[in-house]
Amino acid sequence: MTDKEELARQLECIKVAAKIVSERSEKAGHALTYHVTTFGCQMNARDSEKLAGVLEAAGFLYEEDELSADLVLYNTCTVRDNANQKFFGHLGSLGAVKKNRPDMIIGVCGCLSQEKSAREKILTSYSFVDLVFGTHNVFDLPRLLVAVLTREVTKGKGHIVTEIWEDTDKVVEDIPVKRNYKFKSGVNIMFGCNNFCSYCIVPYVRGRERSRTSDDIIQEIQKLAADGVKEVMLLGQNVNSYGRGLDEEISFAKLLQKVEKIDGIERIRFMTSHPKDLSDELIEVMAGSDKICRHIHLPLQSGSSRILASMNRHYTKEQYIELALKIRERIPDIAITTDIIIGYPTEDESDIADTIDVIEKVSFDGAFTFIYSKRTGTPAASMEGQVPEEKVKVFFDRVLAKVQETSVKRAGLIEGKTMDVLVEDINRQDPALVTGRLSNNLNVHFPGDASLIGQIVPVKLKECKGFYYLGEKN
Ligand code: 5AD
Ligand code: SF4
Repeated sequence: MTDKEELARQLECIKVAAKIVSERSEKAGHALTYHVTTFGCQMNARDSEKLAGVLEAAGFLYEEDELSADLVLYNTCTVRDNANQKFFGHLGSLGAVKKNRPDMIIGVCGCLSQEKSAREKILTSYSFVDLVFGTHNVFDLPRLLVAVLTREVTKGKGHIVTEIWEDTDKVVEDIPVKRNYKFKSGVNIMFGCNNFCSYCIVPYVRGRERSRTSDDIIQEIQKLAADGVKEVMLLGQNVNSYGRGLDEEISFAKLLQKVEKIDGIERIRFMTSHPKDLSDELIEVMAGSDKICRHIHLPLQSGSSRILASMNRHYTKEQYIELALKIRERIPDIAITTDIIIGYPTEDESDIADTIDVIEKVSFDGAFTFIYSKRTGTPAASMEGQVPEEKVKVFFDRVLAKVQETSVKRAGLIEGKTMDVLVEDINRQDPALVTGRLSNNLNVHFPGDASLIGQIVPVKLKECKGFYYLGEKN
């Protein structure tokens, strides 16, 4: 089946589902509702918008409370064990609710369902789950939904419909999407990852790296721009290798230049960069651009060359520092943020000293610090020298303190300036304030109302609060 035929089939399934949902709503005396619960990264957030889009097109109404919805879909993450535990906690609570509401539909998708052992746990111990599918067939939700609603396909145990694909070459566009924000959107530019960092499960659950053609990406962004989107976030596990394997001659930097030309798009962000593939061409394109945001997320993972080699990261401590300083020199107002893993097998005092040294030299604007989590099936999981928990805690606190020190210092550098803020929301704590983001990704809160949401406005950065600003509209 071609991608076009697949799309037609899915759209047909949405119609069939809508008919069933409408009949059931009538019978129930209320419109059926749905809730999508998202765990994990920006990729999952984007997939959830697609899932919600299909459910709404099928007639389900959004329900804020997970425990009250008629259909709950969990879009899971498995990058670290605490994400798994969180999900199973949610699932347990929902199971208890379903005992009294047997018509409730519960689905599980995302990275965790791609993992055999976790999937088997769902199928055997959580048999109240109705639907399990993976990361490669998100576009197939309409068909799976019909299957669940009619229970024609009942593979696996009990009522469970299980459809896990090991990989796919299908890219099915134009299935309905419900965007969380009117003015900004994620855009997948590639799927999967080929890097096989030794600790990471992503390549096993997201499959091999595949880039979308630049025409498809540009068309999608043009449509988004026509629909009021001002900021796009280009998404991929390793955006710097964008274009590999495509027939066209294109790099990530060239893709950015194409996106820049789209009228209406005012801000361009991207996630995530791998240091080993970050080109000078990209730095130049960023330096010369008014639209590409002054922020780069450049995961370090460790500052120790010995650990980096074991992690299969393909760069050394010195190479990372050189790259980061080159970016800082060429684009002085850029924010560099990072990811750091602490407690990787055999990590010792001297490795942590190296990591702290890199944090000082690069002066990160922010960092996500993660305790190493053993992922079954990855090379690091079977390595000798797993680090004891108490030691990891000490290392973690030291790294975190250093990162906080540099990020507070960096944030303070722009105090008193007036800079453009894209307003995103009413402030959660104080409804007299709105919350927005600077190009460098820092949050700013300032007096304003809902009419500002989605606008880019100049704001005076009056007071740095460490990781965010209090400001005043100019
Ligand atoms: N343990 C801890 N952190 C991990 N990450 C990926 N795999 C693991 C793991 N097994 C972190 C990396 C990556 C981020 C998305 O998650 O820092 O950049
Ligand atoms: Fe995981 Fe490494 Fe791929 Fe990132 S680049 S998703 S850390 S394997």
